[in-house]
Amino acid sequence: MTEKFGSRFAATARADESFPPLPTARAVVPKDRWSPNRPSNHVDQEALAEDPVFGVDSAPAASAPVAEPAESTKAAGKLGPTGRPLPHFPEPPPLEHHGPATVIAMCNQKGGVGKTTSSINLGAALAEYGRRVLLVDFDPQGALSVGLGINPHELDVTIYNLLMERGTRVEDVLLKTNVDGLDLLPCNIDLAAAEVQLVNEVAREQSLYRALQPAMADYDVMIIDCQPSLGLLTLNALTAAHSVIIPLECEYFALRGVALLTDTIAKVQERLNPELRLEGILATMYDSRTVHGREVLSRVVEAFGDGVFHSVIGRTVRFPETTVAGEPITTYASSSTGAKAYRQLARELLARPREEQAAHRR
Ligand SMILES: Nc1ncnc2c1ncn2[C@@H]1O[C@H](COP(=O)(O)OP(=O)(O)OP(=O)(O)O)[C@@H](O)[C@H]1O
Ligand SMILES: [Mg+2]
Repeated sequence: MTEKFGSRFAATARADESFPPLPTARAVVPKDRWSPNRPSNHVDQEALAEDPVFGVDSAPAASAPVAEPAESTKAAGKLGPTGRPLPHFPEPPPLEHHGPATVIAMCNQKGGVGKTTSSINLGAALAEYGRRVLLVDFDPQGALSVGLGINPHELDVTIYNLLMERGTRVEDVLLKTNVDGLDLLPCNIDLAAAEVQLVNEVAREQSLYRALQPAMADYDVMIIDCQPSLGLLTLNALTAAHSVIIPLECEYFALRGVALLTDTIAKVQERLNPELRLEGILATMYDSRTVHGREVLSRVVEAFGDGVFHSVIGRTVRFPETTVAGEPITTYASSSTGAKAYRQLARELLARPREEQAAHRR
């Protein structure tokens, strides 16, 4: 089963089994980037000042200018935070026409790993590059809607209606955001009921796929923010998607449960959606100041190899702030390292070979 996913998934299958003894995992991050015996709360100001991920807006008393991810990508061949040479991700060329959409599920059954934050900010960064993006809030908690300044409890019509009522159209539910080209299908706690009600539906795993089809031609990318479970809603997201991004928080238990997730993805691919593939593992909340952070990232790269995005999202208090502000970091703190990191991720995604993207479109 894992063969269909190629080497990324073969690596994934091994990841969970072999994860535990962290201290042995130092193969990937080169020695000049960290020192194994340094206590984990040690802050290396010099390394920090040069760190393209952690950056200046989070650095305590950082005085030196900080290299931006965008700049550092120009120096192709320079090692990135994942310990691999960082390719150049060019500015994506403008599109002459839009659609059909590539649908990405942001998925990890582990809670609090950055699914919603990544959905919002990757979506906003793609929109900045002229892509038409539809964000699909598919977690009954409605965090994605809240993160874009919507109070989901006040909404009469949400994605629940789109899924469950034949007469509801995408445009009845769709909300525009303050970011040009970024739209939202909001959600609230009503969606929790759909999980129960769908059980009796014919082709219950395909409900979201069917609901999104009328909008495919209008968008370049759709991002589905999944809830932290592998229940029926997540199966719907995986069935509707062309690819999956798995955000992993850079902490000790990051890889726990990832084998179960990739096994679920493989089953969906086998039974429901043959074109589903792994887009990549996204390391989030990375703190390059600590040995722990670097070791975990090194283990993630060891486990998933090229399945890990070169773009890494640093830990910064700016992200919780954006939730309160109800807008993406790309507008809230446009020149922050967090904003730059998601822009780099957007460029990395768009820089992937066109045929590869086209091949998994239905
Ligand atoms: N890079 C980051 N640095 C610091 N805090 C972050 C970062 N990314 C996300 N956060 C914060 O971590 C918390 C969890 O993030 P988020 O809601 O995106 O995770 P999630 O995987 O969607 O969670 P859930 O599983 O509950 O849906 C939020 O408070 C968010 O602001
Ligand atoms: Mg979430």
